[in-house]
Amino acid sequence: MSKIGDFIQGADWKREKHAPVIEVPETIKAGEPFTVSVSVGKEIPHPNTLDHHIAWIDLFFQPKGNKFVYHVARIEFKAHGELETYTIPAASVTMRVAQSGTLRALSLCNIHGLWESSVEIEIA
Ligand SMILES: [Fe+2]
Repeated sequence: MSKIGDFIQGADWKREKHAPVIEVPETIKAGEPFTVSVSVGKEIPHPNTLDHHIAWIDLFFQPKGNKFVYHVARIEFKAHGELETYTIPAASVTMRVAQSGTLRALSLCNIHGLWESSVEIEIA
C-alpha cells in the first residue's frame, strides 16, 4: 500500500520553484520567541492564478531525537487573481522551542502536488 509520503517531492528551492523556503535567524535561544519565514518561489517565482497556485504551507517542528513532528502552523493562501487580488505565498510565524531540532515545511501546489523542505535549528 502506498503512503502519502510517497507523493511528497523535495528539491533545492534555488532550482525548483515549488520547494518551500524556510528562513530562520542566525541565533535562536531556548524558550525565546523567534520568527520563521516560509515562502514558495523566492528564487524562481511560482504562478499565482486561479488555475495554478500555492494553496497552503504547513510548518512542523521535530525536536532532535524525537520520533514525532509537531504542527506549528498552517498558512492558507486564498486569493489568486480575483479582481487583481493576490495572496503572495509567503508568511512569518513566531514561535519558541526548548531544544534544537528540525523545522519542516510542506506546501501544496494545486497542480503539482506536495513539496517539502527542512532546516536544522541549533539552540544557542
Ligand atoms: Fe505548480
